[in-house]
Amino acid sequence: GPELAALVAGGAVDVRDFPKPGIVFKDLMPFFGDGPRFRRVVDGIVAHYGAGSFDVVAGVEARGFVVAAAIAYATGVGVVPVRKAGKLPRPGFSASYALEYGEATLEVSEDAFVAGQRVLVVDDVLATGGTAAATMDLVERAGGVLTGFTVLMELAFLNGRERLSPRKVHALLTV
Ligand code: PRP
Ligand code: MG
Repeated sequence: GPELAALVAGGAVDVRDFPKPGIVFKDLMPFFGDGPRFRRVVDGIVAHYGAGSFDVVAGVEARGFVVAAAIAYATGVGVVPVRKAGKLPRPGFSASYALEYGEATLEVSEDAFVAGQRVLVVDDVLATGGTAAATMDLVERAGGVLTGFTVLMELAFLNGRERLSPRKVHALLTV
């Protein structure tokens, strides 16, 4: 609700022209660094889905890891790290995508999920939706069943949600 949105907004700093001219970077490091704020928001995400509604949390490197691990700990499930290219020590699935700035590849281990496991995908920001789309593809290719995709902040002007439709997207704050 509006209370959680305000908690996220209060921990976000706009940084102009990072990492490239014309980009307004949403820096959530102050949010992560504020213990009570971070805890209340994580508890809010857990309450939204309900503990027991997912079997594992998938977090997107790097900023998604922070939120994913907290949700996993709070609910007693495990974390699957969805990694940037070249980091996995064993065979994995791979998906490439265009970012608002640049291009990237994400990978997940072939055996990351037990078939049919319900997966909550977590990231900090939804921008163009490329990261989210690639991650959800990876989860499904690896045998997971998508429970939902949750972010702290959605940048609505980049229309990422439309790209992910009809997949379920939950954003605490939409700007
Ligand atoms: C940022 C952000 C999201 C993604 C959103 O990550 O943390 O993961 O971009 O953008 P999109 O919706 O346009 O795909 P980034 O790739 O910058 O890397 P980081 O998390 O490792 O900082
Ligand atoms: Mg990221």
